[in-house]
Amino acid sequence: MSDVVNETAKNAEVDVHADSISTATATEEKRPQFGTRLLKVNDDVFKHNAWDHVEWDAEQEQAAEAAVKRNSETKMSNNERERFKADAPKFWDSFYGIHDNRFFKDRHWLFTEFPELAPMETIDAPRSIFELGCGVGNTILPILQYSTEPQLRLYGCDFSARAIEILRNQPQFDNRRCDVFVMDATQDQWQVPFEENSQDIIVMIFVLSAIEPTKMKQVLENCYRYLRPGGLLLFRDYGRYDLAQLRFKSGKCLEDNFYVRGDGTMVYFFTEQELRDLFTAVGLQEVQLIVDRRLQVNRGRCLKMYRVWIQTKFRKPLEQP
Ligand SMILES: C[S@@+](CC[C@H](N)C(=O)[O-])C[C@H]1O[C@@H](n2cnc3c(N)ncnc32)[C@H](O)[C@@H]1O
Repeated sequence: MSDVVNETAKNAEVDVHADSISTATATEEKRPQFGTRLLKVNDDVFKHNAWDHVEWDAEQEQAAEAAVKRNSETKMSNNERERFKADAPKFWDSFYGIHDNRFFKDRHWLFTEFPELAPMETIDAPRSIFELGCGVGNTILPILQYSTEPQLRLYGCDFSARAIEILRNQPQFDNRRCDVFVMDATQDQWQVPFEENSQDIIVMIFVLSAIEPTKMKQVLENCYRYLRPGGLLLFRDYGRYDLAQLRFKSGKCLEDNFYVRGDGTMVYFFTEQELRDLFTAVGLQEVQLIVDRRLQVNRGRCLKMYRVWIQTKFRKPLEQP
């Protein structure tokens, strides 16, 4: 059995929600940018907390495939599946009831990967950014903190009323620059406080994976509708065979590559091609599509964790068909 599955089993306590897993040492080093720390054959793997662009060999790929086959052979019954989908906002409410704003931290990569959110140069023209599934503000609050744009307007929605309440109560929240509201992004018609074709940027960070696959296209169609021509959809989420997928036990699979966690929240694991197909099907044009394969290391406990995330930037064309 290859490393990836071994480590997956050993790391059963690693939190599967985390995009940038907060191991004991994860905050010691700031992440420079994609692809700057490469693991070479003779390197001591435990020298650093994380390595970029880790190559998976055929054996590792096959072991991951086998692990997923095993944990998704038995699917949940229709009744169970419908319950998790119907009660999704309640499960996220309970999640935030337990974790409050203490999750999804250490987001060193936000402005290095998405400099469009708070450009260094001064922008005097009005701009508008909308975040879907904003949770308790781990993207919105840093933008409020670092953006120097006098005319930036921020919007955020989440279907967890509790998340929105927690966000509104943060000391850094500024309701003169930011409006956040409860909305289920899978609704056919969005109820939003802005016009169609108005948003310069729509952000989706670890959100589409929480949405049932049959509704993803509808969500993206609405993103397209509300982006201005030339506007950008910024996206980061779980990739196929991420550690979090491999460590699911049998009985947690709702549909292929779509699982329910112990706390009732759902998660999908994407391939590049699936995302490319989803985004282009609604008319968006590819600007960037990167698979971020990282090896995270817990040096204290000598653990290796293979993470796979996908990051994309897609643009709404200036000329509409
Ligand atoms: C993994 S969390 C990520 C939160 C936030 N984007 C971040 O990066 O910290 C997923 C978020 O999506 C929200 N969410 C899931 N499905 C949603 C839906 N259909 N409409 C709106 N929000 C949703 C959840 O309530 C949760 O806050």
